[in-house]
Order: sequence, then C-alpha cells, then structure tokens
Amino acid sequence: IRNIGVLTSGGDAPGMNAAIRAVVRAAIYYDLKVTGILRGYEGLIHGDFFDMDRKSVANIIQRGGTILKTARSDAFRTKEGRDAAYKQLKEHDIDALIVIGGDGTFTGAHLLTTEYNFPVVGLPGTIDNDLEGTDFTIGYDTAINTVINAVDKIRDTAESHDRLFIVEVMGRDSGLIALRSGIGVGAEAIMIPEANMGVEGLVTRLASGRKDKSSKIIIVAEGDEVGGAFNVGEVLKEKFPQYDIRVSVLGHIQRGGKPSCMDRVLASSLGVAAVEGLIAGQSGVMVGQVNREIIFTPFDHAIKHIDAKEITPAWLKLVEILSL
Ligand code: F6P
Repeated sequence: IRNIGVLTSGGDAPGMNAAIRAVVRAAIYYDLKVTGILRGYEGLIHGDFFDMDRKSVANIIQRGGTILKTARSDAFRTKEGRDAAYKQLKEHDIDALIVIGGDGTFTGAHLLTTEYNFPVVGLPGTIDNDLEGTDFTIGYDTAINTVINAVDKIRDTAESHDRLFIVEVMGRDSGLIALRSGIGVGAEAIMIPEANMGVEGLVTRLASGRKDKSSKIIIVAEGDEVGGAFNVGEVLKEKFPQYDIRVSVLGHIQRGGKPSCMDRVLASSLGVAAVEGLIAGQSGVMVGQVNREIIFTPFDHAIKHIDAKEITPAWLKLVEILSL
C-alpha cells in the first residue's frame, strides 16, 4: 500500500476531525501518501480529491463537524455509481480506503470490498452508537453530553414552572442516546425502541409514580414506536389535564460542538489502528475498541448485530429503580 484515501460519510459526528487527523498522521508516520476525498462517496464518484499533509490536519482535533465534509450518496447505492468510484480510485493510484461513518457508510464500503476486492477499513463515526464491534462510536460521548447539558437547562425551567417536559433525542432506530442521557439527567421515564414501553406504559408509570414531584422529564428516542415527542404530548395532555406539558425536540445540536476528550482519544487511537490494520492486510472490516482492546469486525457484522448492545434487562431495571 502506498496511497490511502480517506473520507467521511453519512451524518457527521464530533470527533470525525480527530479521526481524520490520526489517519493522516499515522499514514505519514508509516511513509504513506494520503488523499483526502471530499463529501464522502459523492466526492469519490466525482474525483473530488486533494493531497493531505501534516498541515492539512493541524488545529482540527478540537473542532466539531468534518473538514472533509460529508454526504449521504444515492449514486453510490447504484452499481454505476460504484463503478465510477472504483475508476476514480484506480486513476488516482489510491490503493486503499479508510471510511469514517456509520451503518450506511459501511454498507457502501462492504460493497466496494466485495465487488472490486478493494481494501477498505472503516472507523465508527456516528452519534448513534449503533454499531457492533466497538463499545462506543466516535461522537456518542459528545452527543450524550450535549443532551444532558440541554436537558439540565430544561429541568431548571421545568422545576420553576412545575411542568412536565417530553424531550426527543436522536439515535435513528437505536435508543442508546436516550438511555444513557436519560439516566444522566435523572429522567422520570425513558422511551426507547428496544423496550417499547408504549404510551399506555408511560401513562401507567406516571399514574403510579410520585405525585409530589414539581418537574418531570420524559426522554423519548426518535426511533421509539410512539412516533415522536409531540404524539406523546398529545396523549398525556388528554390523560393528565392537571399537568402543564411542554415538548422539546433537541435535533441537530446533538451532532455539533467540540468533541469530548473521550471522543478525541477514541478517534485518535482508532485512526492510527485503521492505518496499521490496512498495512497488516486488514480489509472489509471496521476497527473498534472493546474492553480497551482494538478489534476488527467485518462490515456486515458491525451493521447488523446491534440488537441488545448495552440495553440489557439490568439497565432497564436501573431506570425503573432510579425514576421512582
Ligand atoms: O445517524 C445520525 C443521525 O443524527 C440520527 O441520529 C438521525 O436519525 C439522523 O442522523 C438525521 O439525519 P439528517 O441529518 O440527514 O437529518
């Protein structure tokens, strides 16, 4: 391997810049050339490339977003799109790729390795933490800290006004952002797709819960089958006319901001491990960290086996005990 291409794809996540920096610096350390690819698979298809050096990644470890920009590419889902991308890689003498992103990114990377036998290693960059083969994804720690900072502020005003707030958080199909941040803010209830409490379950819990609390915070994962915080709000307004209810959807603030130290360090160590993995012949895999060990997990395993990751009966019991 002489020339590694690097791209970020899908939803951005805080810490992606730290990962890019680590990839570039590790490649230079091992005497490899690095080519930056702009806007993920879109830029790959269109040959939007530039040479990267030590200086192109200076002063970015602390910045949110991604200096390489990102996109969700429809064209790369087609065979023609991938053919065009492969042609660009060949024409620019790029002989391996590091992709930073989540499940959509790895679905594309999997196709690139299987259809063209092209070496690709992935780095888990998503706030959702919904990938198997790593305890945490890059961006998750920052996102849950953003959520708890926001909800702590909501708690202040909820407490002053004796209100019940329903706060919707991101995570796509996963309840991991909701679960951890919900525990972190002392939520009265946490609604996640993995547990499916349902609005009836929430109503029962609220009806049987303490009546003397002046504020209540319900955290709802966007992927929960209740269909969003506003739906929950409508039902609760009807069932509990005595409550003063407000809804808050946190949205994309969860994706921005300076990465936490945990995310910077995770991104740095995984970025170096990705380059070392490619040199050692790894391909078709995501690099992750499990119990502080670096491990490589095939793309198709990383994206399809998240079922019970972290959401165990013990966690759910913890929520029940603490929310009394
Ligand atoms: O995957 C990250 C994520 O922020 C999800 O939590 C969310 O469902 C989705 O991306 C939002 O995507 P977009 O920014 O394209 O609206």
